[in-house]
Amino acid sequence: MRVVRTIAALRRSVLQWKEAGEQIALVPTMGALHAGHLALVRAAEGNAQRVIVSIFVNPAQFSPEEDLTSYPRDFAADRATLKRMAVDLVWAPDNAVMYPAGFATRVVPSGPACVGLEDKFRPHFFTGVATVVTKLLVQCSPEFAVFGEKDYQQLKVVSRLANDLDLPTRIAAVPTVREKDGLALSSRNAYLSQSERAQAPVLYRVLKESAARIADGEVLPRVLKDGAAAIGAAGFRLDYLDARDDETLRPVSAAKQAPLRLLVAAWLGKTRLIDNVAV
Ligand code: PAJ
Repeated sequence: MRVVRTIAALRRSVLQWKEAGEQIALVPTMGALHAGHLALVRAAEGNAQRVIVSIFVNPAQFSPEEDLTSYPRDFAADRATLKRMAVDLVWAPDNAVMYPAGFATRVVPSGPACVGLEDKFRPHFFTGVATVVTKLLVQCSPEFAVFGEKDYQQLKVVSRLANDLDLPTRIAAVPTVREKDGLALSSRNAYLSQSERAQAPVLYRVLKESAARIADGEVLPRVLKDGAAAIGAAGFRLDYLDARDDETLRPVSAAKQAPLRLLVAAWLGKTRLIDNVAV
């Protein structure tokens, strides 16, 4: 497994594999790898002969008030983890490689990036994600790129951009990997105190209960109101809990049947957690 830090070295490997007729799967990450990321790596291994995992904590998707400096980083541990898997190359550019002096181009997504969910609370976020993901897809020119359903809106934004920009990459989705108690794995779970960690699974429990009630035909506003109350009662500060069209992520009329996606974002102390389930 090679660790590559320059565009030129990355291009050499990618070109070599392409010339040998080998397909490439890319798994973009910000490191601090956990079992959720590794499920993506395994899906990549099943889709292509060559696997690239990128590790880059992308400053462009953090606002100045967010956790860029405290975001967990452990490159040595990540590298050791990936070495045990069938990963061919770790793409680990630094900021100056990704955003060299004079960098002045951004990819500004619309559609699922402008529906009043994550975008409402993190207005800078999807432009940062879309710009870096476009760069990663161009740099690695993979046949497949694997993303987690954990970040459902991000998955839809990335799928849209790959289509809209005619990128020859198929976007593959992997279901959310959870702890035994239901909490979705996230690098940010490391921020939780012991008592917050004990409360955190409430988010998934409420999602599951709400999804079951919607599937049973209960009206959305009542289910969402009860869900929001339960999340508040467990000590969270809610950003949103909403049921949306599972493809466009647009709001749905009361009469809309499945497929819906139930999405939530809430703060537990200083930690912001997001999760979602299918209805
Ligand atoms: P990061 O949060 O490191 O996540 C990398 C990938 O892992 C994303 O596709 C995310 O959805 C997936 N993932 C995270 N937790 C997961 C879980 N519990 N189960 C399944 N998949 C999970 O998302 C990003 O990084 C960045 O925004 C990135 C796409 C790399 C662009 O900078």
